[in-house]
Amino acid sequence: MDLIPAPLRVQPRPDAPPFVLHAGSRIAVAPGAEAAARRLRAELSAATGFDLDPAPAGEDGDLRLALDPELGAEEYRLSADADAVRLTGGGPAGLAHAGQTLRQLLGPAAYRSAPLPGADWTVPAVEVHDAPRFGWRGAMLDVARHFMPKAGVLRFVDQLAAHKLNVLHLHLTDDQGWRIEVRRYPKLTEVGGWRERSMVGFRAGGRRDDQPHGGYYTQDDLREIVAYAAARGVTVVPEIDLPGHNQAAVAAYPELGNTDVVDTAALGTWTDWGVSENILNASEATLRFYEHVLEEVLEVFPSTFVHLGGDECPKEQWKRSDAAQARIAELGLKDEFELQSHVIRHFDRWLAERGRRLIGWDEILEGGLAPGAAVSSWRGYEGGIAAASAGHDVVMCPEQHVYLDHRQADGPDEPVPVGWVRTLEDVYRFEPVPPQLDAAAAAHVIGTQANIWTEFMPTGREVDYKAFPRLAAFAEVAWSDLPRDPAARDWADFERRMAAHYPRLDALGIEYRRPEGPRPWQRRPGVVGRPLEGPPGPSAGVAAP
Ligand code: ACM
Repeated sequence: MDLIPAPLRVQPRPDAPPFVLHAGSRIAVAPGAEAAARRLRAELSAATGFDLDPAPAGEDGDLRLALDPELGAEEYRLSADADAVRLTGGGPAGLAHAGQTLRQLLGPAAYRSAPLPGADWTVPAVEVHDAPRFGWRGAMLDVARHFMPKAGVLRFVDQLAAHKLNVLHLHLTDDQGWRIEVRRYPKLTEVGGWRERSMVGFRAGGRRDDQPHGGYYTQDDLREIVAYAAARGVTVVPEIDLPGHNQAAVAAYPELGNTDVVDTAALGTWTDWGVSENILNASEATLRFYEHVLEEVLEVFPSTFVHLGGDECPKEQWKRSDAAQARIAELGLKDEFELQSHVIRHFDRWLAERGRRLIGWDEILEGGLAPGAAVSSWRGYEGGIAAASAGHDVVMCPEQHVYLDHRQADGPDEPVPVGWVRTLEDVYRFEPVPPQLDAAAAAHVIGTQANIWTEFMPTGREVDYKAFPRLAAFAEVAWSDLPRDPAARDWADFERRMAAHYPRLDALGIEYRRPEGPRPWQRRPGVVGRPLEGPPGPSAGVAAP
């Protein structure tokens, strides 16, 4: 049946007659399953052209949806025979996953938005019992370096849901763009929401695109994205990066920057790639400013976790700034790292007081980790190991393994090669829990995430190419009960199932990288990247491009 991600248990019944969905099929919905049933009906009606009306009261229905409180929230059972397909979830998310499994069983055409002539809607007789390995199965999308219009984000949510991924981490702010409307501070998007031009490829290539680049989401756009994702079992985690990666904000409100060492009023939204030195100052006024920003962020995003970045914060300006040094002295801090910690700890408390939790990149470990904070371990496993060993929750997303901006094959045709070669097989063999963690620390690895940085992906088409098919392998790593030893994983079996999965991606309209390489229009001849040689070391760091 070639399901991806592989379920916990599948029992095919090859001798039993299959289920056939037809124009008269009806849906029966038990209490609590209404929302999931609406979704499934909308998706399958579009694909099949069948109405899939509710079964009359007291009748069984051909598709039967119900909740079972004995199951975990994301756990589900799917049972298909000639009579019916029964979908049972521990909660709405479990039912959503069951619905995705049903789509895979129905065939690639179940992913289309309108029926093709002569389609056949047969589901083989089967029993599936399924539940995820990790509660956090994420993808981070950088919409700051290149803006992805709302429709593209909704489409990306569909792609995540189809792979049973359940967290969309939206990187909303960076040096090169501020993408979330803040009512109180409109210049964040008026000024920070666009840049005059962009670098094309790595700095060394010297290429520029003089077309201004920009865009932002209104709060209503983001509410729509959040609700659309929630209906598909996906939580949107917003990232507002602090205190580095902030040139766009400083360009909009120069008082946020280190005004005693740089003329921040002369700054624009950054037009280079890399890590800008124009970080925030750490004054009380700046903390208040970001509290106001976050008040609006919390109104829009109901997720428990709020990502506050904390990565790659160059300390040069703080070292030279009398105001920053006075602040360090006033607060009794040792150095600039402790000043960064002060900012992160401040917002850790601030979020906790509002019933939320801070998550940040592993640099938040430097200078002391805020007490309730969780860590996105990106510079390797080390940060995650240190954090989990100290009792902090961790999302493993090491750049050596699951940075999907990195090239997926060697060779001159791979578009804008950055980082290491990370093939589909490499991602399939990524293990989120390092073996040196004991059971208690391993339990703090709440999940894993693939990160998609978009410096070299100007549109959703390039995101498609870099994200897929690797996100399918990543989904299996995050969901399925694979051998913990990467070498023991059945790559040949995954590759075989991928042969059935590519037509699903085709039906979804995803412009993935085909196994044989980029199509002519997927190449970017002449655009210089920054490939790293050799296999990635366990903790090799990536310098700014
Ligand atoms: C990161 O890649 N700077 C989190």
